[in-house]
Amino acid sequence: MKLAERMARIGVETAFEVLVRARELEATGRSVIHLEIGEPDFDTPRHIVEEAKRALDEGWTHYGPTQGYPELRETVAAYVSRTRGIAAAPEQVSIVPGGKPILFFPMLALLEPGDEVIYPNPGFPIYESMIRFLGAVPVPMPLVEERGFSLDLDRLRDSVSAKTRMLILNSPQNPTGGVIPEEDVRAIAEMVRERDLLVLSDEIYSRICYDGIPVSIATFPGMREKTIILDGFSKTYAMTGWRIGYGVMPEWLVDAVNKLMVNSNSCTASFTQRAAIAALTGPQDDVDRMVAEFHHRRDAFCDGLNSLPGFRCARPGGAFYAFANIRGTGIHSKELADALLSDAGVACLNGASFGEFGEGYLRFSYANSYENLMEAVERIRRFIAR
Ligand SMILES: Cc1ncc(COP(=O)(O)O)c(C=O)c1O
Repeated sequence: MKLAERMARIGVETAFEVLVRARELEATGRSVIHLEIGEPDFDTPRHIVEEAKRALDEGWTHYGPTQGYPELRETVAAYVSRTRGIAAAPEQVSIVPGGKPILFFPMLALLEPGDEVIYPNPGFPIYESMIRFLGAVPVPMPLVEERGFSLDLDRLRDSVSAKTRMLILNSPQNPTGGVIPEEDVRAIAEMVRERDLLVLSDEIYSRICYDGIPVSIATFPGMREKTIILDGFSKTYAMTGWRIGYGVMPEWLVDAVNKLMVNSNSCTASFTQRAAIAALTGPQDDVDRMVAEFHHRRDAFCDGLNSLPGFRCARPGGAFYAFANIRGTGIHSKELADALLSDAGVACLNGASFGEFGEGYLRFSYANSYENLMEAVERIRRFIAR
């Protein structure tokens, strides 16, 4: 029996593969500093864990509504309305197991073979994977280092065609940490407002931002009806393993997402939804502390990378990734990433695993302790000196 043809077009995430290799090395007694995986190195705040335990004790252990419990949808709608300055209604909210289903389901519901999708490159690898899987046409949008890894607006304008069905934006961004400035988001809104396309705005890092608040394209006139906001709990509340996230989108698309949910998951776990309400309505001090710590590490780690011969790394505005330009080393990014893992004990990711325009860069996640980050810089320094 052979796999369906479409399986030849689906991709994977290199971060998980590198993690496996790093763990294998550790099993042989080697020390590895993990800067490959994109998850906060903090525990889920205590009050959220306690609420999940209480929910289990109270019997929140059954199937729930496919779209998510009304109380959580109301909480999310109020949170998104407040943080994005829009009027989001609970009917526009889909609660799903993680942020990723808000890529999978809306894309599955909207894209026909041959439709064009513009997506950031380098970018989260699942975008291109899903576009190809669905037989749509990936149109890469290179990010520009000199513009803080925002888009080249002229190139974007030239890339939009009659076949463009979707534009994917991600700010703060994985893998670069870049934040799209407000004036660029406004210009993009102007470009797409009159077109028959939807914007998938991946805002999973919206709370992990160091210089002000990132602007959602949904905020601009006429854009709320054309935007799918992806957000969730994984990064903001250090809840990657809980698998809970949400999308805010036009109601007609929520109906389609409900059908895909009922065919795949039935619903998102009930007790985690109780915990998610506690996350959004409870104290936010843990989030503030985590972001302040990331900020401190970003500054020190980027300074460290910039002190390495052949490395150049601008301070990213958000997320917890440093995307270092390593062209000055004269080594290809895959070769350097592999060698840093096997010879220096530093696990990081080849920039090209985020798309062809990531060649010449390495992605480091600074979701690791300050001491480990400084040690990683010294390990790389010793490796390069050899
Ligand atoms: C840009 C981006 N979008 C979405 C996700 C998926 O988040 P979740 O773990 O909630 O599915 C990630 C996770 O790494 C991400 O980096």
